[in-house]
Amino acid sequence: MKIAIGADHAGFQLKTAIVQYLQERGYEFQDFGVFSSESVDYPDQAALIAKAVAGGDFDQGIIICGTGIGVSIAANKIPGIRAALCHDVFSARMARAHNNSNVLALGARVVGPGLAETIVVAYLEAEFAGGRHQLRVDKISKLEE
Ligand code: RB5
Repeated sequence: MKIAIGADHAGFQLKTAIVQYLQERGYEFQDFGVFSSESVDYPDQAALIAKAVAGGDFDQGIIICGTGIGVSIAANKIPGIRAALCHDVFSARMARAHNNSNVLALGARVVGPGLAETIVVAYLEAEFAGGRHQLRVDKISKLEE
Protein backbone atom coordinates (compact mmCIF):
# COMPACT_ATOMS: atom_id res chain seq x y z
CA MET A 1 0.00 0.00 0.00
CA LYS A 2 1.43 3.37 -1.04
CA ILE A 3 0.39 6.31 1.12
CA ALA A 4 0.49 10.03 0.33
CA ILE A 5 0.58 12.18 3.46
CA GLY A 6 0.34 15.94 3.84
CA ALA A 7 -0.76 18.75 6.12
CA ASP A 8 -1.18 22.48 6.42
CA HIS A 9 0.69 24.48 9.06
CA ALA A 10 -1.84 23.52 11.75
CA GLY A 11 -1.31 19.84 11.00
CA PHE A 12 2.45 19.98 10.58
CA GLN A 13 3.36 18.69 14.05
CA LEU A 14 0.83 15.85 14.00
CA LYS A 15 1.99 14.90 10.51
CA THR A 16 5.55 14.64 11.82
CA ALA A 17 4.35 12.18 14.50
CA ILE A 18 2.37 10.11 11.98
CA VAL A 19 5.27 10.06 9.51
CA GLN A 20 7.45 8.66 12.28
CA TYR A 21 4.82 6.03 12.99
CA LEU A 22 4.61 5.06 9.29
CA GLN A 23 8.40 4.83 9.10
CA GLU A 24 8.63 2.62 12.18
CA ARG A 25 5.96 0.25 10.81
CA GLY A 26 7.60 0.03 7.39
CA TYR A 27 4.77 1.62 5.39
CA GLU A 28 5.62 2.92 1.94
CA PHE A 29 4.75 6.60 1.86
CA GLN A 30 5.59 10.01 0.42
CA ASP A 31 5.47 13.15 2.54
CA PHE A 32 4.01 16.05 0.53
CA GLY A 33 4.70 18.60 3.27
CA VAL A 34 4.38 21.13 4.70
CA PHE A 35 7.71 21.00 6.49
CA SER A 36 7.29 23.97 8.86
CA SER A 37 4.61 25.81 10.80
CA GLU A 38 4.61 28.70 8.32
CA SER A 39 1.05 29.53 7.31
CA VAL A 40 -0.30 27.99 4.08
CA ASP A 41 -3.77 27.47 2.63
CA TYR A 42 -5.23 24.05 3.45
CA PRO A 43 -7.02 23.57 0.06
CA ASP A 44 -3.61 23.58 -1.66
CA GLN A 45 -2.31 20.76 0.54
CA ALA A 46 -5.56 18.81 0.30
CA ALA A 47 -5.46 19.05 -3.51
CA LEU A 48 -1.89 17.74 -3.61
CA ILE A 49 -2.79 14.61 -1.66
CA ALA A 50 -6.16 14.08 -3.34
CA LYS A 51 -4.69 14.37 -6.84
CA ALA A 52 -1.83 12.01 -5.94
CA VAL A 53 -4.38 9.38 -4.88
CA ALA A 54 -6.90 10.04 -7.68
CA GLY A 55 -4.06 9.86 -10.22
CA GLY A 56 -3.38 6.26 -9.19
CA ASP A 57 0.18 6.64 -7.90
CA PHE A 58 -0.98 6.17 -4.30
CA ASP A 59 -3.56 3.84 -2.74
CA GLN A 60 -4.38 5.96 0.30
CA GLY A 61 -3.95 9.53 1.46
CA ILE A 62 -3.67 11.04 4.93
CA ILE A 63 -4.32 14.77 5.16
CA ILE A 64 -4.23 16.91 8.28
CA CYS A 65 -5.30 20.46 9.12
CA GLY A 66 -6.45 22.09 12.36
CA THR A 67 -9.89 20.50 12.40
CA GLY A 68 -9.68 18.08 9.47
CA ILE A 69 -12.81 19.75 8.11
CA GLY A 70 -11.22 22.05 5.57
CA VAL A 71 -8.97 19.41 4.06
CA SER A 72 -11.78 16.84 3.88
CA ILE A 73 -14.12 19.29 2.12
CA ALA A 74 -11.38 20.27 -0.34
CA ALA A 75 -10.17 16.70 -1.01
CA ASN A 76 -13.72 15.55 -1.75
CA LYS A 77 -13.89 18.04 -4.64
CA ILE A 78 -11.39 15.91 -6.57
CA PRO A 79 -13.17 13.25 -8.69
CA GLY A 80 -12.51 9.75 -7.42
CA ILE A 81 -11.75 10.86 -3.87
CA ARG A 82 -13.71 9.62 -0.90
CA ALA A 83 -12.15 11.49 2.00
CA ALA A 84 -13.33 10.58 5.50
CA LEU A 85 -12.85 12.80 8.54
CA CYS A 86 -12.36 10.37 11.43
CA HIS A 87 -11.70 11.24 15.04
CA ASP A 88 -12.54 7.85 16.51
CA VAL A 89 -11.49 4.28 15.77
CA PHE A 90 -14.96 3.00 14.84
CA SER A 91 -15.40 5.68 12.16
CA ALA A 92 -11.91 4.97 10.82
CA ARG A 93 -12.73 1.26 10.38
CA MET A 94 -16.16 1.95 8.89
CA ALA A 95 -14.81 4.53 6.45
CA ARG A 96 -12.73 1.79 4.84
CA ALA A 97 -15.15 -1.12 5.34
CA HIS A 98 -18.36 0.54 4.15
CA ASN A 99 -17.34 3.65 2.19
CA ASN A 100 -14.10 2.39 0.63
CA SER A 101 -12.56 5.73 1.55
CA ASN A 102 -9.21 6.55 0.01
CA VAL A 103 -8.23 9.58 2.08
CA LEU A 104 -8.20 9.86 5.88
CA ALA A 105 -8.61 13.42 7.17
CA LEU A 106 -7.51 14.32 10.68
CA GLY A 107 -7.73 17.45 12.82
CA ALA A 108 -4.56 18.18 14.78
CA ARG A 109 -6.44 20.55 17.09
CA VAL A 110 -9.02 17.86 17.81
CA VAL A 111 -7.02 14.70 18.53
CA GLY A 112 -3.63 14.24 20.15
CA PRO A 113 -0.86 12.14 18.63
CA GLY A 114 -1.75 9.02 20.66
CA LEU A 115 -5.36 8.84 19.49
CA ALA A 116 -4.36 9.91 15.98
CA GLU A 117 -1.92 7.00 15.75
CA THR A 118 -4.61 4.54 16.92
CA ILE A 119 -6.99 5.96 14.31
CA VAL A 120 -4.36 5.65 11.56
CA VAL A 121 -3.67 2.00 12.53
CA ALA A 122 -7.37 1.16 12.49
CA TYR A 123 -7.84 2.93 9.16
CA LEU A 124 -4.88 1.37 7.36
CA GLU A 125 -5.59 -2.14 8.66
CA ALA A 126 -9.30 -2.13 7.74
CA GLU A 127 -10.53 -3.53 4.43
CA PHE A 128 -13.44 -2.71 2.17
CA ALA A 129 -16.29 -5.15 2.78
CA GLY A 130 -17.61 -5.00 -0.80
CA GLY A 131 -21.00 -6.62 -1.48
CA ARG A 132 -23.91 -4.25 -0.93
CA HIS A 133 -21.43 -1.50 -0.07
CA GLN A 134 -19.92 -1.65 -3.56
CA LEU A 135 -23.30 -0.74 -5.05
CA ARG A 136 -23.52 2.28 -2.74
CA VAL A 137 -19.97 3.42 -3.45
CA ASP A 138 -20.79 3.10 -7.17
CA LYS A 139 -23.72 5.45 -6.56
CA ILE A 140 -21.32 7.96 -4.99
CA SER A 141 -19.14 7.74 -8.10
CA LYS A 142 -22.19 8.37 -10.30
CA LEU A 143 -22.77 11.65 -8.44
CA GLU A 144 -19.54 12.90 -10.04
CA GLU A 145 -20.95 12.49 -13.58
C1 RB5 B 1 -5.87 27.04 9.92
O1 RB5 B 1 -5.89 28.03 10.89
C2 RB5 B 1 -7.18 26.25 9.97
O2 RB5 B 1 -8.23 27.05 9.53
C3 RB5 B 1 -7.06 25.00 9.12
O3 RB5 B 1 -5.99 24.23 9.57
C4 RB5 B 1 -8.26 24.05 9.17
O4 RB5 B 1 -8.64 23.78 10.47
C5 RB5 B 1 -9.39 24.39 8.29
O5 RB5 B 1 -10.38 23.65 8.20
